[in-house]
Amino acid sequence: MAHRTVLHLLCTFGLFQKGLTDLIRTRRTVMAAAGEEAGFRCELLQSKDVVQVTWHKVLPDREETLAAYTSRYGQRVNPAFKDKVGFTDAGLQNSSIFIRNVTEEDEGCYLCLFNIDPGDDLKATTCLQVYELHEPVLHVRESGSEETVVSCSATGRPAPTVTLTVLRDNVHFPGNSSVSVNNTNGTVTVTSTAVLTRLHHMDTEVRCAVRVLSAPQKEEVRMIPAEGEEHFHTH
Ligand SMILES: *[C@@H]1O[C@H](CO)[C@@H](O)[C@H](O)[C@H]1NC(C)=O
Ligand SMILES: *[C@@H]1O[C@H](CO)[C@@H](O)[C@H](O)[C@H]1NC(C)=O
Ligand SMILES: *[C@@H]1O[C@H](CO)[C@@H](O)[C@H](O)[C@H]1NC(C)=O
Ligand SMILES: *[C@@H]1O[C@H](CO)[C@@H](O)[C@H](O)[C@H]1NC(C)=O
Ligand SMILES: *[C@@H]1O[C@H](CO)[C@@H](O)[C@H](O)[C@H]1NC(C)=O
Repeated sequence: MAHRTVLHLLCTFGLFQKGLTDLIRTRRTVMAAAGEEAGFRCELLQSKDVVQVTWHKVLPDREETLAAYTSRYGQRVNPAFKDKVGFTDAGLQNSSIFIRNVTEEDEGCYLCLFNIDPGDDLKATTCLQVYELHEPVLHVRESGSEETVVSCSATGRPAPTVTLTVLRDNVHFPGNSSVSVNNTNGTVTVTSTAVLTRLHHMDTEVRCAVRVLSAPQKEEVRMIPAEGEEHFHTH
């Protein structure tokens, strides 16, 4: 009776709900490159009488169980995910799982659930974003006798940012045109191009940096050397 009153008061003042979410430390989002591994971790910040920790994928209509840990039965992974999901840290206070070889289908939100005696549950959600980013492809070609065309392409999902810079005699020239193509598999190929006046006597450094979201960028650097002495003197 007294218990119910206290619970009712806690709920009325919104303390109970707030308390629940503050008791678990987890990341709101994690990112992983397609084909790599994604990790999820939940830490219960207060010592509780946890019976079981389970992990679920949140689907539009339900939650699908991926894995569970109890001290009695140890680690159990849903057989449908046995090659895909595993525990990196199985405990009743801290729990971490990984998802191997992530693809676009693995995108979405995941839930860790601490079952606590007597029937209280604490849960937290982490969402996974899967990105794709291929190595940049840098092309340098001569156009007529006076111009050099430098272009850099990158394919990714979501659309990558391509930053092309040309460094010549310590002066930077940013790439000045950019074209995007949507590929059928959902990736976007972005090509950035710079047209330079050819300067025969000067080394030119071309640098192309590509990135998606806040994932580590990839970079390709090329030196276009000054033409040989002999050639230079003929001018
Ligand atoms: C849970 O993880 C935290 C941080 O990694 C660590 O400080 C703590 O000792 C862990 N608790 C248990 C019970 O393993
Ligand atoms: C990773 O997933 C892709 C797409 O489902 C599949 O084609 C590929 O064989 C998997 N690679 C490994 C190492 O399991
Ligand atoms: C790029 O900029 C250079 C020099 O600023 C200019 O000569 C060239 O026409 C520009 N190219 C495009 C495609 O805008
Ligand atoms: C490519 O896809 C984006 C996002 O779906 C869309 O806004 C854009 O118009 C598309 N571009 C082309 C050239 O189809
Ligand atoms: C998607 O298409 C692009 C361009 O055709 C290709 O480079 C990339 O490898 C494809 N990605 C996958 C996962 O098949």
